[in-house]
Amino acid sequence: MNKIPTEYLKYFWPMRHFLITCGREERANIIPVSFCMPVSKNPPMVACAIGKTAHSSEIIRKTHEFVVNVPGQELNRQVYYCGFHSGRDVDKFKETGLTPLPAHHVDSWIIAECPAHMECRVEHCIETGDKYIFVAVVLEAYADEWLEKGERALEYAIGEFPEKVYGGRFER
Ligand SMILES: Cc1cc2nc3c(=O)[nH]c(=O)nc-3n(C[C@H](O)[C@H](O)[C@H](O)COP(=O)(O)O)c2cc1C
Repeated sequence: MNKIPTEYLKYFWPMRHFLITCGREERANIIPVSFCMPVSKNPPMVACAIGKTAHSSEIIRKTHEFVVNVPGQELNRQVYYCGFHSGRDVDKFKETGLTPLPAHHVDSWIIAECPAHMECRVEHCIETGDKYIFVAVVLEAYADEWLEKGERALEYAIGEFPEKVYGGRFER
């Protein structure tokens, strides 16, 4: 059996991705994140790994809060726009046309077009190689009624590997 070197990330695919919103007013931003997972059930907690140089990391390190929004696959175009541009250069809400609605517990926005949301407060920030891992408690999770009642299934957005994501800004 001949084992050959590989890109380790390939074996985490397919991965779901999420749209994380952070900041407010002139600093409001949206970042697609695949490196996001539950890390405690009681209390509910999540961990998200975000590039050290991403504008979103800078915002979250200041505000200690963010929202995980769950996009359906019909938002793929907006997901990729947000993943290939930085909030330092563009207003992603304006450019994508996504609708900001006020969050309940954190000083940021949720994305109206996403059917599920988790409002989070950061408890720990851990440094890894090129990322910060934000470990956060979920203050409230809520979803559109149609989704909760199972009236329609959410067609989850699945990340593509590897060229589209890893060929771009993700490698920063
Ligand atoms: C589908 C997809 C998934 C991504 N997942 C992550 C991720 O988990 N962590 C990360 O740091 N960047 C991820 N990125 C790249 C960031 O979204 C990208 O660097 C973005 O431009 C950063 O924006 P900001 O500077 O406004 O924060 C992903 C991009 C795409 C398109």
